[in-house]
Amino acid sequence: MADQRAGRAHWASRFGFVLAAAGSAIGLGNIWKFPYITGQNGGGAFVLVYLGCIVVVGLPIMMAEFLIGRHGQRDAVGSFVALEGKGSPWCLVGWGGVAASFIVLSFYAVVAGWSFDYVVKSAMGTFPGRSAGEINALFGGLVSSPLQVVFWQGFFVAATVSIVLGGIRGGIERWSKVLMPVLFMLLVLLFVRGMLSPGAGAALDFMFRPDFGRLTPQALLDALGHAFFTLSLGAGTMITYGSYLHPKSDLFSLSVRITVLDTLVALLSGLAIFSVVFAAGLEPAAGPGLVFQTIPIVFASLPFGSLLAFVFFVLLAFAALSSSISMLEVSVAYLIDEKGWGRKRSTFLIGSLAFLVGLPSALSFNVWAQVTPLFGKTFFDLMDVLVSSYMFPLGGLFVALYAGWFWKGEGEKEELLGGRHRAWLFPLWHFLLRYVAPSAVLLILLNQIGVF
Ligand code: TRP
Repeated sequence: MADQRAGRAHWASRFGFVLAAAGSAIGLGNIWKFPYITGQNGGGAFVLVYLGCIVVVGLPIMMAEFLIGRHGQRDAVGSFVALEGKGSPWCLVGWGGVAASFIVLSFYAVVAGWSFDYVVKSAMGTFPGRSAGEINALFGGLVSSPLQVVFWQGFFVAATVSIVLGGIRGGIERWSKVLMPVLFMLLVLLFVRGMLSPGAGAALDFMFRPDFGRLTPQALLDALGHAFFTLSLGAGTMITYGSYLHPKSDLFSLSVRITVLDTLVALLSGLAIFSVVFAAGLEPAAGPGLVFQTIPIVFASLPFGSLLAFVFFVLLAFAALSSSISMLEVSVAYLIDEKGWGRKRSTFLIGSLAFLVGLPSALSFNVWAQVTPLFGKTFFDLMDVLVSSYMFPLGGLFVALYAGWFWKGEGEKEELLGGRHRAWLFPLWHFLLRYVAPSAVLLILLNQIGVF
């Protein structure tokens, strides 16, 4: 074990790890998805439930994933092998994670690719002077062109591969230290711009004044599902990142920092977006087109609108990239640790496969838009439902059951969590993992299959 640890790459610093893991968590989920589902679910009350889910379900499961990875000191599958022995059924949880993060990469790259296209569009000053109808049509024009969508998807996968090739310290950690601070600065800029706009009051009101009358059962479940997605849980990602931690690090304070950063980015993005949307008298419930259609429309009418749009899409592209590298790393770590492959070969192979598997998702918006193999859904939607609605929650459920009920060695866990100094922490964490998290996840899953 000691030898294995000595030879294995680790994060260069705690700060680097926090930025890398926050980079994984902060992504399209925060800037693209959170604002639009908040809009669709009526604001305040949804935000409150979402925050609750992050604290009582997300944070404890994140700690469990880091703990498993740090203890195993191997990839998502190997960590379970190290803890439970080869052939243990718990290894399936690791396998599920590797599969889920691979699948999510395949279609995440499609939407992330659009954000690259929008970086170029805004840099060229495409939006100002155009009518709302014309700007809406630009989005339609992009997604309906298979050539453009596949080009940007490939470009995005290639960018992801080029970072992961550099390894943990030289690639992921180094790039996270560039991407994340730039992202925070751009976000603060947009947030301040939003708060200075006449829609600021309405945005604060919309996001923070809960109207429980608007809280539907669907909203509760959306909030819980999104808590998994936004924290990158249930996909082996945090197990893999945790495995590059030194055995002595304080998992609780690291996890809290990552969760706070992720939540802050979601809230600031929501406020920045809604304040300009309200100031322009537009609808908060625009759905997935909120950032690609509504935002360029709003910015087109503002002074320095081109610059603001450019800043916004660079922000989106950077956030997506720091997430996709974490998805790729899960499978790459598996090949390196379990199969003894080199990083270069593993990264190129998984990157190419993710691109190929993503093609049907890219074509779902154009030539295959009418192809709906199952349940009347396109490939893109099927992949999204498969991982976001089933594989992540199931992965999270089994991590919670494993760490809460089956993992032997309580003392060790207690010590790992900072034991002596935080006597309250272990029992609270254990309670949330044993009872609260599994029942919440079961609730989502039963809802998915239509029990309620
Ligand atoms: N959390 C990221 C986001 O909010 C997406 C992501 C990265 C992810 N890695 C993941 C989601 C692993 C689930 C599993 O956009």
